[in-house]
Amino acid sequence: MYRTGRQRYEKGGAAIYYPTEIEIEIGGGVLNQNKNRPAKKTGRTVESGKSAAVAVKAVLRKALMCDVKSLYGLFLEYSKAGEMLPRSMSDIYEHLRDFYIAEIENKDAAGSNEIIGACALTIVWENLAEVRSLAVKRPYTRKRIGTELIKKCVEEAKFFKITNIFALTYKPQFFEKSGFKIIDKSELPHKIWSDCINCVKFPDCDETAVMLKLQTP
Ligand SMILES: CC(C)(COP(=O)(O)OP(=O)(O)OC[C@H]1O[C@@H](n2cnc3c(N)ncnc32)[C@H](O)[C@@H]1OP(=O)(O)O)[C@@H](O)C(=O)NCCC(=O)NCCS
Repeated sequence: MYRTGRQRYEKGGAAIYYPTEIEIEIGGGVLNQNKNRPAKKTGRTVESGKSAAVAVKAVLRKALMCDVKSLYGLFLEYSKAGEMLPRSMSDIYEHLRDFYIAEIENKDAAGSNEIIGACALTIVWENLAEVRSLAVKRPYTRKRIGTELIKKCVEEAKFFKITNIFALTYKPQFFEKSGFKIIDKSELPHKIWSDCINCVKFPDCDETAVMLKLQTP
């Protein structure tokens, strides 16, 4: 049954806009997950192999205006290394509402937290959204932050009743871990290829297409 806007939010739809908190070890993996609490360091020391790791709270939330420069810097670093496509500052501003970020409480001179990961979900066509610009800052990789960012995008797709999520990626193995399947690029609608004309790699796309099909909501 279709729910009214208010019912939909009361039933938890607005959760896509709530921050999610996870605990990571600097030097370790995810320990547990708690929803809807502010970020703070736990002050806990965790024995991980030979070195002691510190447990830190990371918060996943929708991106805000104040995050744009950090996002630009994160993508620039990986795009220079050829690991992802670059995104201009104006492109990030235009698509800011698409982004989720992960941050930890590690204040810079301006008092901002450190952004350690980002991922965007962009609606591109009927019942089709694309995961774009997934990146986790180097010292924080392999702590399931990428996986948790993908989960946020999946929740958002469900909220919008979108059942097909795809990505064009250099890391298909990562996406497969989150349930995506490798597909032939020709399975994607022509609309995608019109967007590709603006890509720096066009027409020599060397990315792999992956798709996640969700149950009908
Ligand atoms: C790819 C990326 C987003 C992964 O983020 P992450 O937070 O490190 O990933 P997770 O810890 O959630 O990984 C979950 C699983 O995915 C797989 N995986 C993670 N990174 C991978 C990689 N670089 N290559 C292949 N598989 C990978 C692993 O099986 C991992 O589980 P494990 O650590 O228990 O083996 C991150 O390495 C990154 O930002 N890379 C540079 C930019 C990039 O390549 N973006 C991808 C879009 S093109």
